[in-house]
Amino acid sequence: MKRYIAAANWKMNKDVQESIDFTNHLTKFVLNLKRTDVILCPPFTSLFNIGELLKKTTVYLGAQNMHFADSGAYTGEISADMLKSTFCEYVILGHSERRHVFNESDSMIHKKLLTALEKGLKPILCVGETLEERQSGRTVSVLKQQYTDAFAGLSEGEMGNCIIAYEPVWAIGTGVVASSEQASEAHKEIRSMIASQFNLRLANEIRILYGGSVRPDNAEELIATADIDGFLIGGASLSVEPFVLIIQSIENYLEKQEK
Ligand code: 13P
Repeated sequence: MKRYIAAANWKMNKDVQESIDFTNHLTKFVLNLKRTDVILCPPFTSLFNIGELLKKTTVYLGAQNMHFADSGAYTGEISADMLKSTFCEYVILGHSERRHVFNESDSMIHKKLLTALEKGLKPILCVGETLEERQSGRTVSVLKQQYTDAFAGLSEGEMGNCIIAYEPVWAIGTGVVASSEQASEAHKEIRSMIASQFNLRLANEIRILYGGSVRPDNAEELIATADIDGFLIGGASLSVEPFVLIIQSIENYLEKQEK
């Protein structure tokens, strides 16, 4: 059975000590997860310490961004090898805040994706439309453009190492969550893009996460939505309690499915 994912994107929150305290607290609650992979994506400054703590656990470490070059004169940037030296296994790429606040282009995101794969990091590639794009009926074409530019030229093996996160920009940090229908429709579209570039088997295997105002009180309904294989969680991952409740919703849902 496919493993689902609960990934915490802390964004620019938590200093080193706060990150350590959270991690020590969280790992007490997530010892025996049977069906859910938990990934913590702290800020760069906390990666190494958290990586050391997570080594003894089944929780994975991810970064929130990286540069595409191996090394060089890129002041303020972090390379894939640097991430790997902190025991990082995943990296979020193309988050809407990177696209919209820091003007990352589809071609830059593609280069980052290729580097991550080459270096053995698993990308969590984010796609999602703005409110204006949705209201003007362009959701599918925006997703298609972002998908196509990001995954162009990948082999089946490389694609198999990718995770996709659908994060509608209008749902991020707003408290406005996508309805099951809206999320399911977008996820189905993304899965059919994978099927037409590769094949149906791979399309069904790849985990497509939903992100945008996921909270304990909506996680149960969202996780039961067709084609949602887990969550990328911002605000509700900053405290252990709501994050654990969301993880438990996923586990409970999958347990019921198995019966
Ligand atoms: P919120 O859960 O705070 O809406 O953030 C979602 C997100 O951007 C995760 O990457």
